[in-house]
Amino acid sequence: MQDQFHKSESLKILLTGGAGFIGSHVIRLFVNKYPEYEIYNLDALTYAGNLENLEDIEAADNYTFLKADINNAVEINNLFEKYNFDKVIHLAAESHVDRSIADPLAFVRTNVIGTMNLLNAAKALWKDNFKDKLFYHISTDEVYGTLGETGLFTETTSYDPNSPYSASKASSDHFVRAYGETYGLPYIISNCSNNYGPNQFPEKLIPLFINNIIQNKQLPVYGDGKYTRDWLYVIDHAIAIDLAFHQGKTKSTYNIGGFNEWQNIDLVKLLCKIMDEKLDRVQGTSEGLITYIKDRPGHDKRYAIDASKINKELGWKPSVTFEEGLEKTIDWYLNNEDWLKNVTSGKYQEYYNNQYKK
Ligand code: NAD
Ligand code: TYD
Repeated sequence: MQDQFHKSESLKILLTGGAGFIGSHVIRLFVNKYPEYEIYNLDALTYAGNLENLEDIEAADNYTFLKADINNAVEINNLFEKYNFDKVIHLAAESHVDRSIADPLAFVRTNVIGTMNLLNAAKALWKDNFKDKLFYHISTDEVYGTLGETGLFTETTSYDPNSPYSASKASSDHFVRAYGETYGLPYIISNCSNNYGPNQFPEKLIPLFINNIIQNKQLPVYGDGKYTRDWLYVIDHAIAIDLAFHQGKTKSTYNIGGFNEWQNIDLVKLLCKIMDEKLDRVQGTSEGLITYIKDRPGHDKRYAIDASKINKELGWKPSVTFEEGLEKTIDWYLNNEDWLKNVTSGKYQEYYNNQYKK
């Protein structure tokens, strides 16, 4: 039973996109850590949303799943009225750059219009009484565009998106900020670097290549492979979101990153080495699968985050080294081959064949 103190702490939190990769880790953290909160997971269950990711917490008393599409304004307004949410953590999005190149409008619909629908529903429900309310928008470092050999993205770096995905995320960030300035809606935005870890859909670099190595399929490296990303273990992102949600300053943004830059080809070679060990294959077997293919159009050369603001203000830093995180990730995929099989069947297979056809 909850005591008086915990009752007064009770909050109704709407988290969108909780059946996806990052969202499922955030949901798990909140459901387990805050039994006094009511956590609502709103997800349309697109190809990227998978309730298997949440099997361990789905029966918890403080967890409710709502199947809904953020593109449907009427449905979203009704849900806000029905459940009277206090705070929103918004992760639902189309999230894969290659898909955004193939179908940019889908990204405008979900990432821009879907975010607008949530902003409007929050504004309508909370009217002008924003006390103790919060719209926390989860964004990406890709909104800043690309870096040269040196420098880091800070919270004041100008937006300069290059892909339809990053343009749609930049647009949604601008609308969140504009609702803060124009209507007084309390918001926080965090812009994070590339995540990796368990439950990531195998279309992004690390899980795609783990899956391909298991199946002895080619590892399609775009261009010369000398593109740099700053990798962060997904649970460290969830911890940063928890901190920013509870202690972050409203009307501000936080950059979150791994202090962990890797050129794609070096990362892929490390992955191959660990996979050969884990699968008892002769060293060099997986590297033999590397195939350089035509570059991604508009491919950003380098991303790297300066996460000193969240470190100084909220005391956050990554807790897991890349070597530890990568090993945990590989072990998870090797121990969950059924999960991989389930998500790579059907529709995803069509996308895969289309993306890598030659
Ligand atoms: P994901 O693609 O794994 O999951 C997205 C989730 O959103 C899925 O569960 C999907 O069903 C749901 N969704 C999609 N369209 C929807 C709609 N119209 N209505 C309701 N639900 C919908 O994405 P992810 O990698 O977990 O990313 C989550 C968020 O974090 C995104 O906003 C993304 O831009 C951001 N982000 C991701 C990374 C990364 O490396 N993956 C890095 C920084 C920021
Ligand atoms: P990705 O995981 O798609 O994340 P993002 O584009 O959002 O950074 O890609 C990470 C890097 O890996 C990026 O430089 C593109 C590259 N990449 C490949 O070389 N081959 C692939 O098949 C994929 C999916 C990505």
